[in-house]
Amino acid sequence: MSNSRSLSQSQSETQSEFQTESHNPALSAELLFRPYALTGTLTLQSRLVMPAMARGFSPGGVPGPDVAAYYRRRAESGVGLIITEGAVIDHPSAVSETSVPAMYGEAALDGWAEVVRQVHEAGGRIFPQLWHMGMARPAGSQPHPEAPSIGPSGLDLSGSPAGEPMTEAQIEDVVRSYARAAAEAKRIGFDGVELQGAHGYLIDQFLWERTNKRTDRYGGDLTARARFAVDVIQAIRAETGPDFPIAIRLSQWKQSDYTARPWQTPEELGEFLNLLAEAGVDLFHCSTRRFHEPEFEGSTLNLAGWAKKLTGKPVVTVGSVGLDNEFLNAYQGRGAGSVGLDELLQRLENGEFDLVAVGRALLADPEWPRKIREGRKDELKAFDPAALGELY
Ligand SMILES: Cc1cc2nc3c(=O)[nH]c(=O)nc-3n(C[C@H](O)[C@H](O)[C@H](O)COP(=O)(O)O)c2cc1C
Repeated sequence: MSNSRSLSQSQSETQSEFQTESHNPALSAELLFRPYALTGTLTLQSRLVMPAMARGFSPGGVPGPDVAAYYRRRAESGVGLIITEGAVIDHPSAVSETSVPAMYGEAALDGWAEVVRQVHEAGGRIFPQLWHMGMARPAGSQPHPEAPSIGPSGLDLSGSPAGEPMTEAQIEDVVRSYARAAAEAKRIGFDGVELQGAHGYLIDQFLWERTNKRTDRYGGDLTARARFAVDVIQAIRAETGPDFPIAIRLSQWKQSDYTARPWQTPEELGEFLNLLAEAGVDLFHCSTRRFHEPEFEGSTLNLAGWAKKLTGKPVVTVGSVGLDNEFLNAYQGRGAGSVGLDELLQRLENGEFDLVAVGRALLADPEWPRKIREGRKDELKAFDPAALGELY
């Protein structure tokens, strides 16, 4: 593969770079505030990314002025790249709630155009996260209760039949919807798009053996299971041109299974990621619950670190940055306290990853970047799950 890097080269670099667990306490948070040229046409004001966080504050799928102000505040404080909450593509089975923003329809697109304008005015850049839930959508959900839930094999995340296996015609239809959403995003000023390919939603359901039992060209070995994602990426690339940045979010873990590991070895991961890179991905956003956990034995690299080694592409790390527990606690009503950034900064300095996504800490405190930069750690707001019910 043209842009893949040899595994032995990667492993030897890994060993020499990450021999020790010790951190240099002198590293400054200023490392997070160096600009980053993501592509030839897109430079970010900092290394900080706000990852997609579903908020459900867009009645009828339309993001309003409160949503624009919410994202603007994070850009003003120093976030380089905002990835919006999952924005649904134009397909009746894509989503399960009416308050999730849409990436189609005049009213929703006008709302997004204002979000983009405000984030740009504040110095930030912004991608929508394009989302289709697939079989993670409960049957009969709003806003289209009549539409069946669909997925690669009609199996829910536990592997039980719960909906309809997608026909080839349905696959083509959904691929076109992704491409249309990306084209609309580009038209209204977004700086790129991110595909939700993680956490057990539609794209991930094709990637994962438990939910993809197809025997046609979309199922079987790793290459066949990647074909749906590759089709989506290629369709977006064809629709948006060579320079429009395309990111994809990927995770080993699923909503239903935190121990799932579709990629058991660096070789498998590399083979898969390079299929996506060749199809047109510019940025891999590697979703882990704790950024400091090694992905494979024999190296301290996390999933993002491996993705960078194996593809040479820019990567985002995420998972418990600045916080003392991982994000699924939030759904059990648990808060999180602040912790230091020494290990994160050391890994960033080592070149393990390029960008750092900060989820709950930024949701709780829009001023997180500014306070970190100015050393005002005592003023950081702890993450309280009550913050999920508000948009500020
Ligand atoms: C309220 C909430 C909603 C989320 N919604 C999404 C989503 O729509 N898409 C996605 O890829 N991840 C979503 N996530 C995961 C976050 O993007 C992030 O990966 C996770 O919170 C870990 O980062 P943190 O430890 O810094 O919070 C969500 C997380 C939270 C807390």
